[in-house]
Amino acid sequence: MASVPSLASTVQQRLAEGLSAALPEAGSADPLLRRSDRADFQANGILALAKRLKGNPRELATKVVESIPANDVLKEIEVSGPGFLNITVSDAAIVETLAARAADARLGVPLNEAAGTTVIDYAQPNVAKEMHVGHLRSAVIGAAMVEILEFTGETVVRRHHIGDWGTQFGMLIQYLIEHPHELDHKAEGAEVSGEEAMSNLNRLYKASRALFDADEEFKTRARARVVDLQAGDEETLALWQRFVDESKIYFYSVFDKLDMDIRDPDVVGESGYNDMLLETCRILEESGVAVRSEGALCVFFDDVKGPDGNPVPLIVQKSDGGFGYAATDLSAIRDRVGNLKASTLLYVVDARQSLHFKMVFETARRAGWLNDEVKAVQLAFGTVLGKDGKPFKTREGETVRLVDLLDEAIDRASAVVREKAQDLTEQEIAERGAQVGIGAVKYADLSTSAARDYKFDLDQMVSLNGDTSVYLQYAYARIQSILRKAGDAKPVAHPELELAPSERALGLHLDGFGEAVEETAAEYAPHKLAAYLYQVASLYTTFYSECPVLKADTPAQVENRLFLCDLTARTLQQGMALLGIRTPERL
Ligand code: ARG
Repeated sequence: MASVPSLASTVQQRLAEGLSAALPEAGSADPLLRRSDRADFQANGILALAKRLKGNPRELATKVVESIPANDVLKEIEVSGPGFLNITVSDAAIVETLAARAADARLGVPLNEAAGTTVIDYAQPNVAKEMHVGHLRSAVIGAAMVEILEFTGETVVRRHHIGDWGTQFGMLIQYLIEHPHELDHKAEGAEVSGEEAMSNLNRLYKASRALFDADEEFKTRARARVVDLQAGDEETLALWQRFVDESKIYFYSVFDKLDMDIRDPDVVGESGYNDMLLETCRILEESGVAVRSEGALCVFFDDVKGPDGNPVPLIVQKSDGGFGYAATDLSAIRDRVGNLKASTLLYVVDARQSLHFKMVFETARRAGWLNDEVKAVQLAFGTVLGKDGKPFKTREGETVRLVDLLDEAIDRASAVVREKAQDLTEQEIAERGAQVGIGAVKYADLSTSAARDYKFDLDQMVSLNGDTSVYLQYAYARIQSILRKAGDAKPVAHPELELAPSERALGLHLDGFGEAVEETAAEYAPHKLAAYLYQVASLYTTFYSECPVLKADTPAQVENRLFLCDLTARTLQQGMALLGIRTPERL
């Protein structure tokens, strides 16, 4: 494992050295380097510096250039415009840096020296309820953040805060007691599919709801059952567990379809914090963070007010003694900070819950559970919209079942694969269809900034052109096919060769992989990695159309271009893996 400094960081450092040599009075000024169309990089930092030192920017820039010793990285530095520096690096430096990346299994990406422990709260469906597109977003974005942060060296603890507690269980359990065979499986010990499990639960949910609404006496029995559940009555708990188990069969079948690895010990639902709730309330009340108001235990905030101008509190314990969502989340924070030793808590949850988390985090700060050493962040995501731009619903106005969507994506993708397939068997088409279809759904979600709403448009998602995973997967597969056809010619870096413009552009971009990962991790912004990878594929497409690979002029050039192809493929594969998307070898 050897981390490789990017050319951008090397150039940045050389410039910074030049700056302080030429202008000691400037201190450690930032040269403000960025990629540029005119040269490889442009530095604008001297403009602000000149203003500060009251000097002529062009003169200062010239002085800086003169104080940078000749070296093999910087080929040309030119002062331009009012005092910019245009910097061109040498072809050899590009190829050598890329060769160092290729020699490393991590592509030279450094580990974060300040890594800590992040608990990620994601993929949190609700027991006895169908999963919908909101659960899809949390799962997809959360899983990508797990991979990305782990890749940077962070210790990641996954937590699936499933909705497995609440008053609705009184109704469900009571119904099951009165209709004891409703959750029985056809044959004892038979495997139940996720579909069947969900349809059992759905049927039960609807039937018990109908009874609850129609029958006052059942309602009373159901409410008494909630009390039994909360009191830990054994029979009641055993029945509750059956609902949880049945739901997990369904959840896991969906996560499996999503090609997502969800582990049972990481599923710690709302019920997992039951033992802590009373103590959480006691601590908050004794410290004065929470106060009793009309019987309920509440936390107030200056800036959270209802439409009537009255403060809206966070209710930690209701006046009837019951606990809600806030008490669970506050207890989960105590567990994650105190027991799991987290330095960061990341919540991948719908933006519509932002007020809840704002109040929960503020309460935890007042209680001292969050502080300068431990921070909490909501990675809030927007709503999934239908093609019409309205929240995604079926024609009947019902929530779209996630499974149906995924199946449709797989069908569409299989059709695309079949159309392009030359030598694939039926089984291979099915396998690739799933990888392409699921990849398309994930990529569409990950490639727009999470906070924004996005349209669920399958036609666009599985399109071969444009910013889609299919485009990236085809770029990867095309490279694999070239590498297979290369026969004896192997990817070998040749720093002595001159590079074509499209080779330089691709090479410099590949060199920026580590920075793309770092930025993505630091900002919890998977869309930045997606944009980076799309750019890799686009630059590769240009390179491929401008530079013959296997028919290049000399054997050395063939090898060098194969080397660029191979590193492109590896970068795509690693980057896509971080997003949870497969890169099939053939498509
Ligand atoms: N189960 C919730 C829902 O479906 C999401 C849970 C989010 N996580 C949390 N710690 N509150 O909306």
